[in-house]
Amino acid sequence: MFSLEGRTALVTGARTGIGRALAVGLATAGADLVLHGRNDDLDEVEAEVRKTGRQVSRWILDLSDPGRIPEAAERLGRIDVLVNNAGIIRRAPAAEHPYAAFREVLDVNLDAIFLLSQAIGARMLARGSGKIITIASMLSFQGGVNVAGYTAAKHAVAGLTRALACEWAASGVQVNAIAPGYIKTGNTERLWDDPVREPEIRARIPAGRWGDPEDLVGAAVFLASSASDYVNGHLLAVDGGWLAR
Ligand SMILES: NC(=O)c1ccc[n+]([C@@H]2O[C@H](COP(=O)([O-])OP(=O)(O)OC[C@H]3O[C@@H](n4cnc5c(N)ncnc54)[C@H](OP(=O)(O)O)[C@@H]3O)[C@@H](O)[C@H]2O)c1
Repeated sequence: MFSLEGRTALVTGARTGIGRALAVGLATAGADLVLHGRNDDLDEVEAEVRKTGRQVSRWILDLSDPGRIPEAAERLGRIDVLVNNAGIIRRAPAAEHPYAAFREVLDVNLDAIFLLSQAIGARMLARGSGKIITIASMLSFQGGVNVAGYTAAKHAVAGLTRALACEWAASGVQVNAIAPGYIKTGNTERLWDDPVREPEIRARIPAGRWGDPEDLVGAAVFLASSASDYVNGHLLAVDGGWLAR
């Protein structure tokens, strides 16, 4: 039920952090991988995925110019599982938040996800099967501080996940999201490196620790596999209990 053998998964932002762990995790569960990178510097993650014995290819595209996605997606072969993971964060108080930073975050964290899901989803609909998994956030539910653009984008992808799920569920395409809690990656380095903020955050996590990227693999394998064929439009929190508090 959880085997991904015979499926091909595309993971965006596969070079580092959560994307890298999910690429290796999906391959371990049996999927062949298309690794997406902003630049062609994916040797390390590709070597890790190859150790699982699965097929690997690359798709290189800077997602900060989302208008290029439809044409670039034509170069892709069959994709059974799309993981919309690539994302950025820009921190500044809302009153001074530069509009350019707000737009930059929306382009990568929302527009690119819509256009890629549309391009790949259309082919999934024609085949009558497919899985789309978007990496959302605690800030798909909460407001956060100093991250207006990021929070706006992460709330928006929660809505987009539900909207696509409603339209595509009857055609055999499941669209869901994973909402990670506080995970130790480059994205959160400024927080876990901060001697004041880090213990404050940890004290609020019922599990008593930050998550590792590997903590998200189980949820991704579930949402990529036939075990989740009747799960549609769900945001699965993997947060050590953060939202339950
Ligand atoms: N860490 C957390 O606690 C946490 C919590 C909730 C949600 N998330 C979400 O998880 C996802 C992955 O983040 P992460 O924590 O693993 O951070 P990360 O290590 O910084 O990874 C982000 C990935 O996105 C790629 N990317 C960024 N801008 C891009 C662009 N313009 N074009 C193509 N690729 C681009 C990066 O590519 P390069 O390597 O080339 O820069 C990188 O591979 C994001 O959507 C993030 O919002 C993270």
